[in-house]
Amino acid sequence: MKNYYILLLLFIIITGCINKPAAIEKDEFSEGRHIISKHGMVVSAHPRGSRIGLSILQEGGNAVDAAVATGFALAVCYPEAGNIGGGGLITEKDLSKYRSVSRKPLVTNYKDFKLISVPLPSGGGIILFQLLGMVESFPLKEWGFHSVEEIHLITEAEKRVYADRAEFSGDQDFVNVPVDDLLNHNYLEERLSDFNMNNATPSSEIKAGSPGGYVSEETTHYSVVDNFGNAVSVTTTMNNTFGSSIVVDGTGFLLNNEMDDFSVKPDVPNMFGLTGGEANSIEPGKRMLSSMTPVIVEKDGKLFLVAGSPGGSTIPTSVFQVIINVIEHNMSIGEAVDTGRFHHQWQPDWISYEANSLDSLTLLELKQMGHETKLRPTIGQVNAIQVMPDGVMKGGADKRGYNTACGY
Ligand code: DON
Repeated sequence: MKNYYILLLLFIIITGCINKPAAIEKDEFSEGRHIISKHGMVVSAHPRGSRIGLSILQEGGNAVDAAVATGFALAVCYPEAGNIGGGGLITEKDLSKYRSVSRKPLVTNYKDFKLISVPLPSGGGIILFQLLGMVESFPLKEWGFHSVEEIHLITEAEKRVYADRAEFSGDQDFVNVPVDDLLNHNYLEERLSDFNMNNATPSSEIKAGSPGGYVSEETTHYSVVDNFGNAVSVTTTMNNTFGSSIVVDGTGFLLNNEMDDFSVKPDVPNMFGLTGGEANSIEPGKRMLSSMTPVIVEKDGKLFLVAGSPGGSTIPTSVFQVIINVIEHNMSIGEAVDTGRFHHQWQPDWISYEANSLDSLTLLELKQMGHETKLRPTIGQVNAIQVMPDGVMKGGADKRGYNTACGY
């Protein structure tokens, strides 16, 4: 039975049900950034978080038990981002009125793969799925990893996808977001109809599309897979370091600073440079638009990959690149998370790239096509687990930070 759990903020999306664990023998445990194990694995932003999750698995707990333990441990050993008081609590001011809700995950296919990710109020799942839909028919494998063609195509797709996000996405309890239309293959094809293989289209010339029928980094991600077929993909956020820096008296947990994820005024960027419009404007009781993108990928009906990342607006594009690196460029999960990344979000109109990710010739060619490029210290921190066809689990704990995989 497939039991997958995608957690975002305090919104818990659950598919399947929990498998009851049988007693299992303890095995030797391994720890590192890129490890291999057979029975269970936890990859989180801190070694202590991963170790505690692993000890729960070894005691016979399942992936959900381990994810809960890891979450609590991170609240202690990584309080600036890992948190139990984060998510949506601060947005309601009156905490007694806050209710967490369960929403159905988004599901799509990319070639032979089935992907399950987060629905609104995170725009991350929509961005990831739109990007995959847009690049699916292009020969990424043939072009090669970080070829000028690949970077150019992905950048142009990213501009269009983030323009759509700014226009359409917001809390679906308040606004009518045409999610199905945004993910429709014909729409995505049409969206790239003005794509020019040789030249960049300036962001100022790119507007949101017309889908049919519709006129500092303090987030953390952990992935858990157990021996019983369960997988958990959790992203939580304080928004910025220590969130609002307010600890709730008598509880010890910090309140987050998620109001920044709303759009305060049209065209006024938030902390991550994201702009938005009416759909994501502030209203009482409304949930702000997130970019968090916990994802679970299946191949041939079997668990293939669990992944997610911090990084504000760069989260969906970081997760996207890791998926493409594994599926199209045949990288191991360790390589796929560690290798350099780039990012475009429509506004501001430039490609950010990590040091040592793009060589000078590539940068020159991109410039000649009309792209502006800017160096950026790091982009995302993906913590992922890949499950091989024989069931062996491979951990990819991102080299950016203290991320650690523990398995047994
Ligand atoms: O939900 C969001 O999209 C933002 N609050 C995420 C912020 C973030 O990722 C910061 N750290 N990496």
